[in-house]
Amino acid sequence: MPNYSEEFSFSSFSNLPFYKKVNKRLLDIAKIGDQKSIVDLGCGTGLITKLILKKLKKDANDSIVYAVDHSSNALKTAAEEIGERKQATVKYIHSEVQNLKQVLREKVEAVIYCNSIHYVPDKLSLIKQVKNQLKPNGIFVFNTSFFEGSHPPETHNFYRKWMIRSLRELKYKYGLSPDKTAKVESRKQLTPDEYICILEDAGFNIVVKDIQRIEVPHDGYYHISGFSDWIEGILPGIPLDKGCHALQKSLKLVWEDMKLSSVPRLWLSISAVKRN
Ligand SMILES: C[S@@+](CC[C@H](N)C(=O)[O-])C[C@H]1O[C@@H](n2cnc3c(N)ncnc32)[C@H](O)[C@@H]1O
Repeated sequence: MPNYSEEFSFSSFSNLPFYKKVNKRLLDIAKIGDQKSIVDLGCGTGLITKLILKKLKKDANDSIVYAVDHSSNALKTAAEEIGERKQATVKYIHSEVQNLKQVLREKVEAVIYCNSIHYVPDKLSLIKQVKNQLKPNGIFVFNTSFFEGSHPPETHNFYRKWMIRSLRELKYKYGLSPDKTAKVESRKQLTPDEYICILEDAGFNIVVKDIQRIEVPHDGYYHISGFSDWIEGILPGIPLDKGCHALQKSLKLVWEDMKLSSVPRLWLSISAVKRN
């Protein structure tokens, strides 16, 4: 289980308007709304589940959304935020996404996987499981801003300066340095074409491949610096409170020094249909 307290949850980041817009666009592209059974994989604190519920047809009383995550704290927050819905049933499933086959008893019409696919080491195996859980013509939709090329070259200087200042802050204030030997899966990134190849190998036809440039505001980098997975990814081995402090403090300094108003990032969105 990850070290995931409510304090370092994904909620404050996921409520930012720019982030909602990116994900809403994905659901629009994929025409989510007609399906009666949908999986929200890696649902986190429930933003995507809420967006899915909003897109369901008004009379979709017998729809079901399975919200899957390995963080019990994230699922608890999601359940609190979503509450009871008349329109559809939401079932929360506490599981590793890699165990989808074992925890999902029925086949579904759509699987939505937002901002999480980069965490999974064996993507082909997971995508094959997704395919097996889909009904004929079922769709699989995902997005990620962690792929090879997601950081435009003109932003590299920002990340470099931010990292240097954060490391300096950790060293001087706490006498700490990250554990360079710790490997974090989300740092190993695939190209969009590699994702397409894996999907095709797993038995999908690509419907939409979209790469969008998003201007991420200061608030985006500030709130993501308070998210446990992000801190652990950038500063492996550093306690969350100290990592969060170092990242947020140095972000402010670098942002002011470089007179930034936003730092762009590319988001990859893919929608694919199961080949029968
Ligand atoms: C960046 S958040 C994304 C949340 C949501 N899908 C969104 O787009 O707003 C990633 C979520 O994936 C979950 N997660 C990461 N690896 C996982 C795994 N192997 N199995 C289940 N959940 C996982 C984390 O607990 C976290 O809630």
